[in-house]
Amino acid sequence: MTPRQKFYITTPIYYVNARPHIGHAYTTIACDAIARQKRMAGFDTYFLTGTDEHGQKIERSASAAGKSPKQFVDEVSAEFRALWDKMGIKYDGFIRTTDAHHERGVQEMFAKIRDNGFIYKAKYTGQYCIADELYVNEGGPGTPCPICGNPTETVSEENYFFKLSSFQDKLLKLYADQPELIRPEGRRNEVVSFVKSGLRDQSISRASFKWGIPVPGDPAHVIYVWMDALINYCTAVGYGSKEKRDHEMFAKYWPADLHMIGKEIVRFHCVYWPAFLMAAGVELPKGIVAHGWLLFEESKMSKTRGNIVRAETIIDVMGNDALRYFLLREIVFGQDGSFSFDALVQRYDSDLANGLGNLSSRTLTMIQRYFQGKVPYPSAAAGRTAADKDIAALADKVIKNYNQLFSEYHFSRALEAAWSLVGAVNKYIVEQEPWVVADKTDEEGRSRLATILYTAAEALRVVTALVHPVIPDSTRKIWAQLGLAKIEQINPQTLKWGDLALGATLGTIEPVFPRSEKNAVERMQQMEQDRAAGGAKPDATQEPAGTGAVAGQPATQAAGGPAPNTSAASLSPTAKPAPISIDDFAKVELRVGQVKVAEKVKGADKLLRLEVDIGTEVRQVVAGIALAYEPEKLIGRKVVIVANLAPRKLRGLESNGMIVAASIGEQGSPVLAGFLEDVPVGARLK
Ligand code: ME8
Ligand code: MG
Repeated sequence: MTPRQKFYITTPIYYVNARPHIGHAYTTIACDAIARQKRMAGFDTYFLTGTDEHGQKIERSASAAGKSPKQFVDEVSAEFRALWDKMGIKYDGFIRTTDAHHERGVQEMFAKIRDNGFIYKAKYTGQYCIADELYVNEGGPGTPCPICGNPTETVSEENYFFKLSSFQDKLLKLYADQPELIRPEGRRNEVVSFVKSGLRDQSISRASFKWGIPVPGDPAHVIYVWMDALINYCTAVGYGSKEKRDHEMFAKYWPADLHMIGKEIVRFHCVYWPAFLMAAGVELPKGIVAHGWLLFEESKMSKTRGNIVRAETIIDVMGNDALRYFLLREIVFGQDGSFSFDALVQRYDSDLANGLGNLSSRTLTMIQRYFQGKVPYPSAAAGRTAADKDIAALADKVIKNYNQLFSEYHFSRALEAAWSLVGAVNKYIVEQEPWVVADKTDEEGRSRLATILYTAAEALRVVTALVHPVIPDSTRKIWAQLGLAKIEQINPQTLKWGDLALGATLGTIEPVFPRSEKNAVERMQQMEQDRAAGGAKPDATQEPAGTGAVAGQPATQAAGGPAPNTSAASLSPTAKPAPISIDDFAKVELRVGQVKVAEKVKGADKLLRLEVDIGTEVRQVVAGIALAYEPEKLIGRKVVIVANLAPRKLRGLESNGMIVAASIGEQGSPVLAGFLEDVPVGARLK
């Protein structure tokens, strides 16, 4: 017997600077679907996910949350894990970069690369983007990050450097020799031209903060968080361990078959990672697939932007499979795609409730009613009509197409193919009118009815098995209702028309996709707003770096409309409130922010919509300063922002923070607070 083929698949390890959202769920669901499909096909599959917990961004987020880094990362990592568990993600490993075995493995690979002569010490002076933990070699202070567009910070320190420049030719040869390594092709071409344009040596340590893995032999430095993070793919399967068991595991699973990532981290995975591995003398991964971004209200859903939707909300209202199906069906894998609650509910109703759900319940209910719940014997081939044969032929064609498309990660098209069968069978049932045929009690009528219902049930079986990796819970239920066992053991590669067990007794028939509630969209929107406002649960990630909070907070609630979002130091005499303690004051988180975007709010002549960078993230704030300030003049200006106010919605816009201003005169015309000396973005006022 030949040993089983293995398949090792990974998600990125997610930063724990904020709570998970459906952007993370998207990658994780895609990997989970692939892993399930590979397991069904008989592969010894290892599916890895985890959390990326070191670096300056996390250190700052922890401090913003008033927690120690360790306490902070423990909490947020646990949230990711709890979400995957709640979503029924079947991961085999969950790595944390704070795991001791990972830290050892990273040091080991660092030392190996240094021993091999690819590391030296030199001074780095240049720009750094903390949100993406990226060295930006070109440009001076304030240069925007090429990934997220936020201004970079200037870093000047003695670092360890990796001789990335020595790998230019080797990398180009790698891309040429293995054209399938990076997919889709557009991403591959970008990587090739990036490498062709020349590679600079890469700083791989930081000395100005502590939250990371110490450089072996030089603990004043911590290893660059991206080097630390990438190596997880090796340490998770045993790299760096002296244990025999771990050696065997590494030998078995490494190299990874598939690193699934979002498009913004292609360079790290396709340039740095293979170069690190070559330098360490470790085998290279076999495939890297980059998908597009999930957009929400036109821009990338991100923790840093705060325009996120949480998976929990969707799962609680619509169910796990609804989210999985929607993401893989609606978004063309590889391209950006928009998320909306409306589209989600529409897909659910049309494809799941009315499509597969309807096919399943009408077919099984009729078998129950007309054949006492036993799968009927169809007539011999000669007795079958063209319509019967068309369904059988279509099913075999769909199996082939689906498998092909799925293996190329064209989830959307694969599901479209599967649903072409669902649609065809639903139409077939309507045309064949089994409920009319059921009135004929003669031999011929019974045989015709049996053939129709058999055909429908067999098509249902085929679709159910095919799409099991995508919607595991509901397909398992349909499977059981068909009277079948162990859907996980059906090999999609050998699935074919005609294997339905005749005479088998159906299970208990229940609706699998109940119709969505009438107000599902509003309920989900409300849940997101409530949760963003901090009502749902107290947790670490309600803090600035973590929130993804979506609503805003006016300073004072003027009668008759939303008050402008400025915290005004009013000149008008007011009743003197009781003094507050220093602890009370310390509760107010005031930070230096820099305005990145400023624009008028339609239909509200006092309001401006601002995007304010506060170091750890960019906040959307709606402020009542439009009469006093031209939006264009504000861009680049440093302001003071109250960063820990509960968020709030103004004119339908989510405002998350308040700009501090003095208020002058009767009208309370605002004057923004500012500084005479230059201050770094993110600095706290106290
Ligand atoms: O980059 N649309 O972590 P991260 C689609 N720690 N996918 C999205 C998404 C969106 N709007 N938002 C997030 C990091 N993702 C590093 C990775 S790997 C060695 C280290 C998904 O928390 C997508 O997979 O910023 C993206 O690449 C990943 O989350 C980034 O997660
Ligand atoms: Mg990111």
